[in-house]
Amino acid sequence: MKRRDFILSGSATLFGLGASTTMASRLVQSTPDAQNLVIQSASYQFRDQPTQNLVSLSPNAPPPVIRGKVGQPMQLSVRNATSDYTAMHWHGLRIPNAMDGVPYLTQMPIADGETFVYEFTPPDAGTYWYHPHCMTMSQMAHGLTGVMVIEEDQETSFDSEQVINLRDFRLKENGEFLPYYSARGAARSGTHGNVLTANWQQSPVYDHPAGSILRLRVVNTDTTRIHRLHLGNAQAKIIAWDGHPVEQDLALPSKENPLFVGPGQRVDFAVLMPTDEEQTVDLIAELPGRRTQIMASLRSVGASLSRDIKDVTPLPQNPVALPNIEQAELHEFVFGWTPEGGAPNDGYCGSLGYTFWSINRTPWPGDAAPATGPLATLERGKSYILRLRNESPNLHPIHLHGLAFVPIRSNLRDLPPLLTDTALLLKDEIIDIALVADNPGDWAFHCHVIEHQKTGLAGYIRVT
Ligand code: C2O
Ligand code: CU
Ligand code: CU
Repeated sequence: MKRRDFILSGSATLFGLGASTTMASRLVQSTPDAQNLVIQSASYQFRDQPTQNLVSLSPNAPPPVIRGKVGQPMQLSVRNATSDYTAMHWHGLRIPNAMDGVPYLTQMPIADGETFVYEFTPPDAGTYWYHPHCMTMSQMAHGLTGVMVIEEDQETSFDSEQVINLRDFRLKENGEFLPYYSARGAARSGTHGNVLTANWQQSPVYDHPAGSILRLRVVNTDTTRIHRLHLGNAQAKIIAWDGHPVEQDLALPSKENPLFVGPGQRVDFAVLMPTDEEQTVDLIAELPGRRTQIMASLRSVGASLSRDIKDVTPLPQNPVALPNIEQAELHEFVFGWTPEGGAPNDGYCGSLGYTFWSINRTPWPGDAAPATGPLATLERGKSYILRLRNESPNLHPIHLHGLAFVPIRSNLRDLPPLLTDTALLLKDEIIDIALVADNPGDWAFHCHVIEHQKTGLAGYIRVT
């Protein structure tokens, strides 16, 4: 099918995209204060020989940390300089639906040579990230995942900051890519990378002032791996989770009780740097069935600033409306295994060629499949409880776009009621989450193990 026919006769009408939101109107010229992002192929040295065929925003470096400030308009001009289609999503940001970057649902895919200008004002401060939502599997696996920091509009108590983007690559000894997904992996817990990186480096060491208080922003942008993390014996405090400030005193993770950080999830720590020079604080990953791995180290340098972990003041809260649980209406969602229905429709955004997973026993029929309705329709401004039930043995980080929610109970564990956009469901776990449906639009709702998302575990929720 020709692309134009497809867009006009296919998804554009079926998904209710009116003429005003089709391609032409958003492909405007960007103004000089826009941040210009060019999606392009890149090379980078992970092993002895450079790896080619990466996808990044510069020819030889990882996607940069994009910075904004809460309440300040941002303009991000995304040009596609690859031969595939794309679309950029700003994970965790509660912004207008038309800027959410989901092909066919909120915009048309961006073709080779085209530019889409994303404009929004971040309502919340915190640690977020960005990644494509078209050719998601291939472009993310080849590198296109970056961190987005939205700064507070008031002073914070940190002396320095370190951003860590955790992700794996699947490479041969000579640096070439191995196949980045497999039917076997997609049908189970996903295909894991074999080169574990932090900011595309293996166990990098970052220098920070001795005795200082550092804000460590850790983001898991991997397509598959559920990280189990801790900071050894460091003096530290969890200060934010999935972007939003944490008010409670949470137990620090340890080797025995590491923090599960699924794909898409973020944790911010306040870390007291050691007072003696050359001492390190290590971000440690416990890898099941394998050795412990230091993902990155923070090394103290210079004369001690002699700060105290008690000097850390709470972060300002984000303006998220809290649900009224008494009056909330319940909607149930079952995440499971439904290996039927043939290959998903792929539109222009890529298909793995299999269907394995489902929500409410219906696999997502693929991007751009005709007449795909919402999984639920929520009324704007009302409170809801969404019951998320995992009936499979695999873990699923379930992500909802455009809204923040809070887990209120689990059948398996005590979950602290921390605001989030991604709930990690353990084997046979049922988690009730609650939210106020205060952002109108069609919001993608899917597993963030990308092989699951792309083989059926996806859908969307409509807020009218
Ligand atoms: Cu992080 Cu639908 O995405
Ligand atoms: Cu998202
Ligand atoms: Cu999953």
